[in-house]
Amino acid sequence: MTVLTTVRLRLEPVSDRHVDGLDAMNQIPEVMRYIGGQPATREQTMSMIARARRCWEAWGTGWWAFIEPTADRLVGAGCIQYARREAEPPADLASLQCNPLEIGWRLHPDYWHQGLATEAARAMAAFAFAQLAAPELIAIRHPDNLASARVMGRLGMQYRGPETWYGTITAAHVLTRGDWQRYGPLDAITADGASVN
Ligand SMILES: CC(C)(COP(=O)(O)OP(=O)(O)OC[C@H]1O[C@@H](n2cnc3c(N)ncnc32)[C@H](O)[C@@H]1OP(=O)(O)O)[C@@H](O)C(=O)NCCC(=O)NCCS
Repeated sequence: MTVLTTVRLRLEPVSDRHVDGLDAMNQIPEVMRYIGGQPATREQTMSMIARARRCWEAWGTGWWAFIEPTADRLVGAGCIQYARREAEPPADLASLQCNPLEIGWRLHPDYWHQGLATEAARAMAAFAFAQLAAPELIAIRHPDNLASARVMGRLGMQYRGPETWYGTITAAHVLTRGDWQRYGPLDAITADGASVN
């Protein structure tokens, strides 16, 4: 499990240490507006952490908690994970590895409009292209989620059109390896390879 470091953030593979911070964020309606539409319960957040741990074990990638290092406060979360078409995850996570890798993000509203999602996204993208040899990354969003579309644009992603992912119609964006190499900030990341439990 790989810890990533940016100028302002430490990205830690999610663990039980992050339950309180993730729970506080996931209970805010405006955070969840375009991600399921409903605040998540603490039990749902705990299940999400357990699932993320299984993804890290199966794939060597998954969800990170974004930590503001000086305050040790949870700022948000994001992922590099294998996308799926279906609403529910399969029992065999390895079966998803033929699908494209997806990048995603969410922030606690206290940290919106500071460039932190884009900063974290660049580090996660660098990890995907360098460590996982991803040929491309996709990002998907609710068609009305324009703030997320702007993060995708800043990352250099191109809009590809409506596509079905997670059992619903989404707006899909793609970042090819070639575009990342041409435009991506190659200094966006230091991956120290440290493990956290
Ligand atoms: C999607 C989401 C993460 C975007 O957050 P955001 O704060 O708009 O995005 P960033 O952190 O990249 O910040 C960019 C903004 O900060 C501004 N900014 C301020 N200081 C900055 C700095 N030092 N560096 C870069 N940008 C800075 C930028 O100008 C930009 O402004 P804009 O919002 O007017 O375009 C946020 O809206 C969110 O968490 N939404 C709920 C969850 C969600 O929908 N997730 C996505 C699912 S697809």
